[in-house]
Amino acid sequence: MADRDPAQLPQHLAIVMDGNGRWAMRRGKPRTYGHQSGSEALKRTIEAVMRRGIPILTVFAFSCENWNRPRAEVRKLLDLFLKALNKDVQELHEHGVRINFIGDRSVFNRTLREGMAQAEQLTCSNTRLQLNVAVNYSGRSDIVQAAQRIAAAAATGTLAAEDLSEEHLNQELTLAHLPPPDLFIRTGGEKRLSNFLLWQIAYTELYFSDVLWPDFGAEALEQALIDFSGRERRFGGLSQVRSA
Ligand code: IPE
Ligand code: IPE
Ligand code: MG
Repeated sequence: MADRDPAQLPQHLAIVMDGNGRWAMRRGKPRTYGHQSGSEALKRTIEAVMRRGIPILTVFAFSCENWNRPRAEVRKLLDLFLKALNKDVQELHEHGVRINFIGDRSVFNRTLREGMAQAEQLTCSNTRLQLNVAVNYSGRSDIVQAAQRIAAAAATGTLAAEDLSEEHLNQELTLAHLPPPDLFIRTGGEKRLSNFLLWQIAYTELYFSDVLWPDFGAEALEQALIDFSGRERRFGGLSQVRSA
């Protein structure tokens, strides 16, 4: 294993915030109580990420598949989201956070959509942390929508099929303007991607933690960063030792 390089810090961190329901059930509480605590964990984590000087954070808050949950739970999740828009955005703005939402927002009601647009507008000049919140997001849909735009361009003759490149497809995806995540963290013990950033994590380092999301914070983040600093990213090449 390569020596740990403390200077190796991810520039873009992606997190699947999983385990709220189990956290609550273990305490004999309803799952929605876990989501409430999960939103506190997100605030703590954003602070910790800023303190560590990581410039880009992308979090999975609600997947397209999460609509399959009981209506009351979905309603609570959207309520919490709206509360966060009303309550926490101003504070994030004061701390220099630029907020961006990814995912299909067309299904949300007007209040939510306006809240999202206002948060993006208010914070658009901030530079300390770029925070991308994935709501009603699906990695596959992201790719399909990019493919639709490309197919439309091909149909009108603006693009020849043989000229389509990885770079071109990448440009049509939601996070095109940002470097891909260096580190992907999933809490809650499950070792799967659950349709989060599929294209973008081709060479991302994956880290799975058993910590349930409401227990996540500076300490658990530090563990992940220590682990990351010991990874050797080869991108298909050879390690320095082997190529010597
Ligand atoms: C993550 O926690 C929150 C969302 C998916 C919205 P879960 O609600 O999935 O919690 P578990 O995985 O059931 O414990
Ligand atoms: C992934 O967690 C989605 C979010 C954290 C928002 P899920 O709990 O929905 O994923 P599965 O169902 O375990 O794959
Ligand atoms: Mg889950």
